[in-house]
Amino acid sequence: MTPAWRTSRIGEIGGSFLLVCRRVVIHWRAIILLLILACVAFLVARSDEFGRFELILLALLLIFIASQIFWLRRLVDVGERFIPGRPRCVWLTIVTVVVYLFVFLYSYPEWGQGHVFRAADYRPLSVVIHAVFWWWFVGSMLAFLLVIAFGAADRVVRAAGWVYRKARMAIHQRPAAADVETVLQPSSRRRFLERTAVLVSATPFLAAGYGLLYERQDVEVVRQRIRLARLPKAFEGFRIAQLSDIHIGPFTTADYIRRCVAITNGLEPDLIALTGDYICWDPEAQSEVVRVLAGLRAPHGVFGCMGNHEADVGIEESITSLFAAQGIRMLRQQRAAIRLGGEMLNLIGIDHGSDLAPDAERQVEGDRRLQRLKTLVMPNTVNILLIHYPHAFGDHELGIDLTLAGDIHGGGQLSLDFIHRGLNLSSLIGVPYIRGLYGDKHAMRPVIDGSGGEQLYMNRGIGITGFPIRLGARPEITVLELTREA
Ligand SMILES: [Fe+2]
Repeated sequence: MTPAWRTSRIGEIGGSFLLVCRRVVIHWRAIILLLILACVAFLVARSDEFGRFELILLALLLIFIASQIFWLRRLVDVGERFIPGRPRCVWLTIVTVVVYLFVFLYSYPEWGQGHVFRAADYRPLSVVIHAVFWWWFVGSMLAFLLVIAFGAADRVVRAAGWVYRKARMAIHQRPAAADVETVLQPSSRRRFLERTAVLVSATPFLAAGYGLLYERQDVEVVRQRIRLARLPKAFEGFRIAQLSDIHIGPFTTADYIRRCVAITNGLEPDLIALTGDYICWDPEAQSEVVRVLAGLRAPHGVFGCMGNHEADVGIEESITSLFAAQGIRMLRQQRAAIRLGGEMLNLIGIDHGSDLAPDAERQVEGDRRLQRLKTLVMPNTVNILLIHYPHAFGDHELGIDLTLAGDIHGGGQLSLDFIHRGLNLSSLIGVPYIRGLYGDKHAMRPVIDGSGGEQLYMNRGIGITGFPIRLGARPEITVLELTREA
């Protein structure tokens, strides 16, 4: 049985929580809406310079600021309850704000170059501070949105109850006894709401902790059958293991990658495909990631392509040489013939290029690589393309049978696709290909089994960038089994 003092303390916390929650629902929603509208107006006026991506980032930033104010107030509020007395309360507020500012300033030494986003700092203290920062960042944002949703739902329910009571009063000319009781003594409903509110706000923090400590490295082996109508007979049952987005770094250690290498070798694939992003942001890490990946074994070899991170820090040439020294071939606007029983597959690799380059430069480079790709395709052969992100997928003129890609980390590492497909960070900013197998461009949806036409497999990757959390987007090693049969 819960002691009376504990019940009253929970009641106080919950009551205060509901109070703040309502304040947020009443005031902050309106403020955020106004801010977003103001920014939308500003961006629409300069729409030639901004896109949907920037708009959503801005909206997220505003929600983040609102959530931080909400949670800081909440922390001080809880502190006041436990440590009554004005002097202590002032100190508590100061300590809370100082700790908060320290984590933020530590995480953002320079605007736009914050090493939380470009973590290349392996010192244990830095890793812990980054981990705490991102746990708080993801947890507080999700919890704030849930609180808003919960508060809104509460208001809808209360409004419906008010309408119902009014209707009954109008019909009976006086309130029914039960209604009077509901109006005057809403304590049980209030207690239920208080406890639900505490639970609702705690869940995202628990989920973020789970994503940080466990799911981030909870590797899933995905077995995918790929039907290719013109697959040569000799390649029936040929198995390709795909690894993507390795991102060696403070949160994706060599030991973890070594475990992924061991799992991949244990699957005994015929060929291994690597689809880019071997490092995070630290060019110094290239030797180590190559050394670890050199442990991969497959009778038909290990092939790969470049990701944007290699281009972003300018290591495409050097890492290609390091891989070559270990017998791993990076295909850079190149092709390789995979031969078996007198028949062959044409394996092509294309660079992604840097995402940090100016748009015009990226466009020119992208067109150049596309032209080069056209010359690498072999018309009467099964063509398999390794590319970090499949911008040209669905271009029927190319004649690619199967594209293997990654880049998106299963929806930006944060996904509720198990509730509804498309509920993930990447879909929010309009990325069309997220995870799993897709049919042609016009279908733009996953297929259960290959349609026999052009297909794309989007790997969720094994590493992370940005926040060291994966939620609903487990790291993945894929085994693709090629078949001619329906
Ligand atoms: Fe990546």
